[in-house]
Amino acid sequence: MQLSPLTERVTGSGASAWDLHSKALKEQAAGKDAIIMSVGDPDFATPNKISQAARDALTAGDTHYAEIKGRFALREIIANRHISQTGQKVTPDNVIVLAGAQCGLFTSSLCIATAGDEVIALEPMYITYEASIQVTGATIVRVAQKASDGFRPDIAAIEAAITPKTKAIFITTPNNPTGVVLTENELVEISKIAIKNNLWVISDEVYADLIFSGEHLSIASLPGMGERTVTISSLSKSHAMTGWRVGWAIGPQHLIQAMEKVALCMLYGLPGFSQQAAMVALTDLADEPEKMKIIYQQRRDLTIAALADAPSLIAHIPEAGMFLLVDVRATGMTSREFSEQLYSETGVCVLDATPFGESASGHIRLSFTLGEDQLSEGCRRLCHFVNTRVNDRAIA
Ligand SMILES: Cc1ncc(COP(=O)(O)O)c(C=O)c1O
Repeated sequence: MQLSPLTERVTGSGASAWDLHSKALKEQAAGKDAIIMSVGDPDFATPNKISQAARDALTAGDTHYAEIKGRFALREIIANRHISQTGQKVTPDNVIVLAGAQCGLFTSSLCIATAGDEVIALEPMYITYEASIQVTGATIVRVAQKASDGFRPDIAAIEAAITPKTKAIFITTPNNPTGVVLTENELVEISKIAIKNNLWVISDEVYADLIFSGEHLSIASLPGMGERTVTISSLSKSHAMTGWRVGWAIGPQHLIQAMEKVALCMLYGLPGFSQQAAMVALTDLADEPEKMKIIYQQRRDLTIAALADAPSLIAHIPEAGMFLLVDVRATGMTSREFSEQLYSETGVCVLDATPFGESASGHIRLSFTLGEDQLSEGCRRLCHFVNTRVNDRAIA
């Protein structure tokens, strides 16, 4: 029996990005001495107080349908937090709680774009954007943020990509995989383009609590942007809660109402016990990301120092998050060959960054989601692999 064309539109070019990672996980479980530096899931446990809130809710019988767009109390906490962070005047009616930021990206795309539209996305970008845009029938228009520019946005290139069909721009600050935090100036320039061309901006801010240098600024806080911005975030990274699937979107009321209709026929509300846990995370445990950030920063610094043992590697120092992009082009290998051979020879698993966008081709992505001993050993093996290759090439 035939499937719908939608199923092809959601098979993005990044579909194979995790193949090596999946293989490494399987082989590690079977006893292989693998060091997995490819995962985007925090290695910290969800803080016990958060889990306890969910256990208490379950014990109290909070196991039934919950409000489709999220409990008022949780939406109120999210709205107040957004007001204090951005100054944007929002109410709980501007907030919908969904199953992670991913569900927010997908649902907002569906409510904003349609066949015939174009949606601009700055690459390198998070792998699921392609499918989240294409599912709507719209065409994704990739705008490169070049490695030679430190992966910073090219405002002139964004402007040049605008056509009468452009409906929206996807931005990510801080970015996965580059770790770039957009500056006020860059956001102002993007906001001018959005206002001039009457565009939506979908702003993915899931790493906003994990910034090492620079300040987080939501584009929604800029003049004229509140009415056209969807701010998306979640507890996945900030509170080590990837499996709880708690995320949200904040936007104009008519958009949130439309997203609620999609959520009604797709999700039918996030489990109440997850929402109770989320309230504790955002209130009693609001400082938790600060602690995690310090650890990620230490791991980032350790990794960068360790990689200095392989002078042919160029690390792009991330301003935020849990990832590091490393330029491996000087080894003469493609980033795919590099990651495959590195894994087969040393057991170190990293991601070929090419599926994040052509601009990341020739780069690998390393994660800081493992302890310092493992990270050091992973970097030691990686440097040895690189130095041997580079020496062999020099002799040949
Ligand atoms: C940039 C970015 N956006 C969204 C997501 C999805 O997050 P969530 O777990 O909240 O769905 C991720 C996950 O890695 C991400 O890196």
